Amino acid sequence: MRGVVVFCFLFALAVAQELAEPCDEEACQLPNCRCSNTNIPGGLAARDTPQFVILTFDDAVNNINIETYRDIIYNRRNTNNCTAGATFYVNHEYTDYQRVNELYNQGYEIALHSISHVTNQTYWAEATYEDMALEFGEQVEQMAHFANIPADSVKGIRIPFLQMTGNASFQVMADYNLEYDCSWPTVASINPGLWPYTLDYASTQDCVIPPCPTASIPGVWVLPMVTWRDLNNNPCSMVDSCLGIPSTEDEWYQFILENFERHYLGNRAPFGFYIHEWYIRDDVNPHVRRALRRFLDLINNLYDVFMVNSKQVIDWVKNPVPLNEYIQQPCRTFTPTFCSPATCPVAAAHNLNVYWMSICNVCPRVYPWLGNPLGQ
Ligand SMILES: *[C@@H]1O[C@H](CO)[C@@H](O)[C@H](O)[C@H]1NC(C)=O
Ligand SMILES: *[C@@H]1O[C@H](CO)[C@@H](O)[C@H](O)[C@H]1NC(C)=O
Ligand SMILES: *[C@@H]1O[C@H](CO)[C@@H](O)[C@H](O)[C@H]1NC(C)=O
Ligand SMILES: [Zn+2]
Repeated sequence: MRGVVVFCFLFALAVAQELAEPCDEEACQLPNCRCSNTNIPGGLAARDTPQFVILTFDDAVNNINIETYRDIIYNRRNTNNCTAGATFYVNHEYTDYQRVNELYNQGYEIALHSISHVTNQTYWAEATYEDMALEFGEQVEQMAHFANIPADSVKGIRIPFLQMTGNASFQVMADYNLEYDCSWPTVASINPGLWPYTLDYASTQDCVIPPCPTASIPGVWVLPMVTWRDLNNNPCSMVDSCLGIPSTEDEWYQFILENFERHYLGNRAPFGFYIHEWYIRDDVNPHVRRALRRFLDLINNLYDVFMVNSKQVIDWVKNPVPLNEYIQQPCRTFTPTFCSPATCPVAAAHNLNVYWMSICNVCPRVYPWLGNPLGQ
């Protein structure tokens, strides 16, 4: 009897989440805790703060979109002569893992965008801890296995349709060694912009796509998606979701700059350029592609602007050194990994499809899916 009581008590302790309390600035200190606010980390002045630019692409990586990535972002350097970064939020279905391995070896960051990417907003809104463990927790191992990249290089997630799942996704992150989420837009804190923060204490961020987390989940970072304003002054989280948009290359270049300057001439909160590759294809919006290229050419020549992987932004926030010190720091290093390529036709158990998988590992027995991330 007593054993049962003790067992139940321990079990309750393990699953209960504490409601997060208002942030205690004294107790919440870097590198592992930060209150949600628009203060520049380390109390730096804006002119001493590196302006980070975070370029991200969502969804499956394949043989078509890799051409855009090679064309637009490969071989770029910041003025500190370090390789310019970008982040890929990759979902499993139809992903070419050999191309993911290529992106990793070019120095870009591979992050997670779920295994199923189910096209059903309600599914995500109602997702439980168990659902999110299958979608994101197990995707770490899946990505590492098929792309042959280190599991501990995978640190970030973005939930499909930016649909928050309350505490669930963040608790999964804490339990699966994931460090930051980049799914949570803010329309209220754009000028000055919201800096990344942890969930040790209650977030003050506006909840645009509820449910948002309210539990205390120590050490997990939110990298807020500071929204743009379109030409009608309406907010947009992803560049390709802006409705009031210009029509020519020059106007697009100005449009990007206006949004960038809100950050660069303000509190230098990281500037996000969040997009899907299809939007900048030459046969869709060639003028947007050219405007983006001009913008990247510009910032790659500014002494205080740095195009980096998202994880590098979190690392800087944890240890915020002033610009003059930052430019002296050695570049990020990583160990390239080899791809031993295989192309495999594999049948799926969850539907009747046969998928052609392009991977850097041995062929799986069945098509990998929720609950069987390696297809064993
Ligand atoms: C998150 O956890 C807090 C604290 O336990 C709880 O009050 C809240 O209802 C949870 N949110 C959701 C959406 O489950
Ligand atoms: C920049 O880095 C490249 C590659 O490491 C090197 O070849 C080049 O000399 C460097 N340029 C400067 C100006 O340091
Ligand atoms: C979407 O997901 C919800 C929750 O999982 C489910 O009840 C509903 O049937 C799904 N809708 C469709 C069209 O599949
Ligand atoms: Zn997506």
